[in-house]
Amino acid sequence: MLANTTFLITGISDKQSLAMYVAKEIIKQGGKVICTGLGVSPYHTNLSEKARGFLTKNFKDFKESVHQELGDSAVAILDVTLEENVDAFAKGLAAKNVKLNGVLHAIAMDKTIRNKQVKPLLEVTKEEFCDTIDVSAYSLITINRYLLKYKVLQEGASICSLSYIAAAKVTFHPYRNISIAKAALERITIELADELGRSHGIRVNTIRFSPYMGSKAGNATLHEKDVQTSDKMSPLKNAKPQDLAYEIVHLFRPDLSITGEIRHVDGGYHITG
Ligand SMILES: NC(=O)c1ccc[n+]([C@@H]2O[C@H](COP(=O)([O-])OP(=O)(O)OC[C@H]3O[C@@H](n4cnc5c(N)ncnc54)[C@H](O)[C@@H]3O)[C@@H](O)[C@H]2O)c1
Repeated sequence: MLANTTFLITGISDKQSLAMYVAKEIIKQGGKVICTGLGVSPYHTNLSEKARGFLTKNFKDFKESVHQELGDSAVAILDVTLEENVDAFAKGLAAKNVKLNGVLHAIAMDKTIRNKQVKPLLEVTKEEFCDTIDVSAYSLITINRYLLKYKVLQEGASICSLSYIAAAKVTFHPYRNISIAKAALERITIELADELGRSHGIRVNTIRFSPYMGSKAGNATLHEKDVQTSDKMSPLKNAKPQDLAYEIVHLFRPDLSITGEIRHVDGGYHITG
């Protein structure tokens, strides 16, 4: 289904990352992937020892996981908050004559969630709020701006991101600050779908997925009881990462006319509660 196609996959930390399931399915369907992970780039300045250590370990784990699961797929460092990094990355792809058929945005960060404790919105600082929006929502614009600037992203490409029901509804478990970033991500999806559809025939969609504790982000946010509650409330039980991979690969098909969608791969959770 995806022969002669190449996709950019962001947001892999390790084997359990949702983006890893998508990358594996793309390869299974005959496509290629280029994977990006967080690491120390030449554009990071004034990094503390702790931050440098974290980024170095993150990139090592990311690279090992990609090589174990995805063979010789290309890897690169990409911190979406550093425009120079995104610019240089896209320029580097252009220099190698890479043509992308699509992008998976699977990036989120919210420092107001610590040890599964979520800060009430009234206590969230402006810096925490803006950082969360920057990483988790605005980055969808940044990445695609530079991919288009260097003509790496092809006409008719498909862009997909990962959202959560909390973008629209207060959930039974607190999710405060990041839910606003997810709402922004969804609105950006719709606006970009209109802009890029008209200018480049590019499709832009997002998928709200079930709560999943297997990944680092999911494990840092959710309690086991949250996943169980959602499982009980969902007519088909919680969706699995592989269900998500099938849907994204479907949206990545070159011959579809679907854009501006906020889809649910959540076992039907969204029709309840
Ligand atoms: N786990 C869930 O329950 C769940 C449910 C619905 C949607 N999602 C969304 O799926 C996406 C992937 O999450 P996941 O659950 O696979 O967790 P994950 O921890 O594997 O992935 C999150 C990724 O974001 C990356 N990231 C953070 N800051 C970054 C930055 N500045 N630059 C580049 N990358 C950065 C991390 O390195 C990591 O790879 C996220 O958008 C998340 O909100 C997750």
